[in-house]
Amino acid sequence: MMMPEPHAFSELKTRLSAFPEVWLVTGVAGFIGSNLLETLLMLNQKVVGLDNFSTGFARNLEEVRRLVGEDRWANFRFVEGDIRNPDICRDVCAGVDHVLHQAALGSVPRSLADPVTTNAVNISGFLNMLVAARDAKVASFTYAASSSTYGDHPDLPKVEDKIGKLLSPYAVTKYVNELYADVFARAYGMQTIGLRYFNVFGPRQDPDGAYAAVIPKWAAALVHDEAVFINGDGETSRDFCFIANVVQANLLAATTKQAEALNQVYNVAVGERTTLNALFGLLRENLARLGVVSSSMPEYRDFRVGDVRHSLADIGKAQRLLGYAPTHRLADGIALAMPWYVQRADAKL
Ligand SMILES: NC(=O)c1ccc[n+]([C@@H]2O[C@H](COP(=O)([O-])OP(=O)(O)OC[C@H]3O[C@@H](n4cnc5c(N)ncnc54)[C@H](O)[C@@H]3O)[C@@H](O)[C@H]2O)c1
Repeated sequence: MMMPEPHAFSELKTRLSAFPEVWLVTGVAGFIGSNLLETLLMLNQKVVGLDNFSTGFARNLEEVRRLVGEDRWANFRFVEGDIRNPDICRDVCAGVDHVLHQAALGSVPRSLADPVTTNAVNISGFLNMLVAARDAKVASFTYAASSSTYGDHPDLPKVEDKIGKLLSPYAVTKYVNELYADVFARAYGMQTIGLRYFNVFGPRQDPDGAYAAVIPKWAAALVHDEAVFINGDGETSRDFCFIANVVQANLLAATTKQAEALNQVYNVAVGERTTLNALFGLLRENLARLGVVSSSMPEYRDFRVGDVRHSLADIGKAQRLLGYAPTHRLADGIALAMPWYVQRADAKL
């Protein structure tokens, strides 16, 4: 059973539809970016999108185009380019009200394999975007932070002001983003908000490649009857967050006018934790409901370097200050996302 949409979000959507604004979504061809794009266009907003297709895909944009229809699609301007280029950042920020900065190289293992490129994109690129947004005098700058910033801090649930020692170069980059955003807010009076996403999943999340996230990767493996690998004993747990919750948090953060809500970081999650073993069962059940019976069994292997054992968010701060309330729990999200995963896996057969 899905949870009701919070009042603050319903009201915001009505207001935006009546008085459209101009948004920049970086990383727009990626998983989270393309979902932000879809919602914004459905609300008749004007959107500029930036992406260099390093981990995103033109097919994600094409899918959004089909879903929103040609009239709404006409409100979108796409720029292919790299956030490591300051001129491109300046171009895309011109005339923009709200920046939703999602472009980055994700994945803890990728950052361990190539810390230099991760640093260049996630820190230098981020700084370019901040400078461009400051110079363009945008109303708000909302950016993708990460739960990896909690590092080895033992407390559960995670509360925003208690972080531990970081466990990967990726986590360093995401923490540095927070430091820069905070300094830009203080030094230049910018309105910045960081959203620490916890294991987001949903349609258009890439199931392929060495750095794929667990849910799309396992769903694809199950459809293809391939081995599903579990790193560790399967009792590792995560606060899996469906994309709709993340979209809601971004729109609320970008448009908040409450002084105490500004220049903060927020956990974006559901506030529930699920083990990998339980996740495996849930995916199999949902596939069976779609008539896909998989005989794959999990194969256990070593714990992965840089991974935290348990992750669970306290979402009280976002609830209190942004009016955020997750609408989808893990099972709701899996039920909605599974047809997309199956279709995507079938398309690859
Ligand atoms: N998915 C998650 O669970 C999760 C969790 C925490 C944080 N995040 C953060 O959320 C953001 C979006 O992640 P996602 O899951 O949608 O990943 P994604 O890889 O699907 O999307 C990232 C997009 O950024 C683009 N990009 C990368 N480098 C770029 C560059 N130099 N210039 C322009 N565009 C570039 C990619 O091509 C891609 O389209 C990232 O900042 C990521 O670190 C994601």
